[in-house]
Amino acid sequence: MPNYTLNIRRYSPESGEPAHWEKFEVEMEGHRPVLDAILYARNKVDGSIGIRCSCQAAICGSCGVRINGNPALACNTLLRDAVATAEDGITIDIEPMGNMPVIKDLIVDMDAVHWKKVQRVVPWLIPAGEPPEREYVVPHEAMVDVTQTMACIHCGVCVSDCLSMEADPDFVGPAASAKAYRFVGDPRDAATKDRLVHLAEDPSGIYDCTHCFKCVEVCPKGVAPMNQIMRLRRRATGDFQIKDRNNGYRHEKAFVNIIEKWGTLHEAKLLPDSYGEGLLGKLNPEAQKNLIGSAPTAIRGVLSGKVAPIKVLHHHKLPDQKKVKDIYEKIHGRDERIELNLYIVGEDADALEESAAVAVTEEGTS
Ligand code: SF4
Ligand code: SF4
Ligand code: FES
Repeated sequence: MPNYTLNIRRYSPESGEPAHWEKFEVEMEGHRPVLDAILYARNKVDGSIGIRCSCQAAICGSCGVRINGNPALACNTLLRDAVATAEDGITIDIEPMGNMPVIKDLIVDMDAVHWKKVQRVVPWLIPAGEPPEREYVVPHEAMVDVTQTMACIHCGVCVSDCLSMEADPDFVGPAASAKAYRFVGDPRDAATKDRLVHLAEDPSGIYDCTHCFKCVEVCPKGVAPMNQIMRLRRRATGDFQIKDRNNGYRHEKAFVNIIEKWGTLHEAKLLPDSYGEGLLGKLNPEAQKNLIGSAPTAIRGVLSGKVAPIKVLHHHKLPDQKKVKDIYEKIHGRDERIELNLYIVGEDADALEESAAVAVTEEGTS
């Protein structure tokens, strides 16, 4: 049977001792999960190892840890896969999730960060008027729309490595944002606009995400929190025209207008247009304040060589800008926005692949 070396980060805040790493040897088949190996070490070698777990089947969301630096469920990561990502090809590093205080060893304080943020988005349905005599009847498509967010098991794996949360611990974060979309997308909810105004106006709300994709990459349930944040933004800007104080609305509009006109991103125009549309908008005192405030960043960009003044001043349009305009016309010509729920598109894609495979087989046999 293969032998695995677990390198577990140990820390007990009340002991006053600094954190340290401890190695444990575990003999176990590679198809067993990392959680089994941690439990083996705890049951057979050192009963003081702190690990939280329950279902051992990727359902309860309690065994989130970092394995070789990446957040994951310990019960959902096989030993053979974990060792394949080990830095030295032998030792599996296991440490607590990030962005949350450590209670003991691999156990983090989910209440202090994750659950607090979930509470912030009012995670329950606010119905309009009295409940109906019998059940609410909801269109099938509406429930399909929120299915992806309903798959969240609140493991905190996405929270662990959210870059924006590292920079701004107040950021509402990926999991709570996905939860917010769960209700924003539900037609029974009567507080859609209030929810969106709150999330758009909050300096640590939906516009605080930097689109790093980490939450999409690590979520064990395919919730794709960043996609839900983008959908919240589209609802806030496209459906409710919420002109927030974070310039999220204007920034999006500036971006879209620039691409329509130039085909590529005209960086020198993006910032001023995000603060104020047209000359009048830029003369607005608030826009002036923001523009002056961002001057040092622009100067730093030029001094470090990241921004080339010549390129900034002479931005070229795409040679065939008409094709870009055609795309815009097609989208603007639609009666309503087509919202792609990637969770569902995945199933469609599978079906398409199947029919393509059948077509190929038929072609081959004819
Ligand atoms: S969104 Fe995914 S990673 Fe984040 S808490 Fe929910 S299930 Fe876990
Ligand atoms: S995409 Fe946004 S929410 Fe997701 S981890 Fe990155 S910064 Fe955080
Ligand atoms: S023990 Fe329940 S998700 Fe891992």
